[in-house]
Amino acid sequence: MPTLHVTLRNGECLTVEGRPGLTMMDLIRNTGREDPFAVCGGGCSCGTCHVFVDQEWIDRVGDVTAFEDDMLDMSPHRGATSRLSCQIVMTDALDGVSVTVAPAQA
Ligand code: FES
Repeated sequence: MPTLHVTLRNGECLTVEGRPGLTMMDLIRNTGREDPFAVCGGGCSCGTCHVFVDQEWIDRVGDVTAFEDDMLDMSPHRGATSRLSCQIVMTDALDGVSVTVAPAQA
């Protein structure tokens, strides 16, 4: 089971067990601890699932699509390791991945 370590907007750190095939967004949303989060339900159209992937994992989470890139460009918080968590499917290769939820957009 791929495990996700996530730091929430309030600084709290959680470890969440996932299942291969679920997205990183699913795991964070299922904690019920972030709001607003994943407002579009994974459709890559809201940007509220924005996370910063820990640098050591960024090369393993897959490539950013052009559409995701455009969505991330709309965030004033975009950083070098920004991703939309709805676009990252958890696999066993991501066991232990660590991310921080980006600040909510005003
Ligand atoms: S859930 Fe809306 S962009 Fe990811």
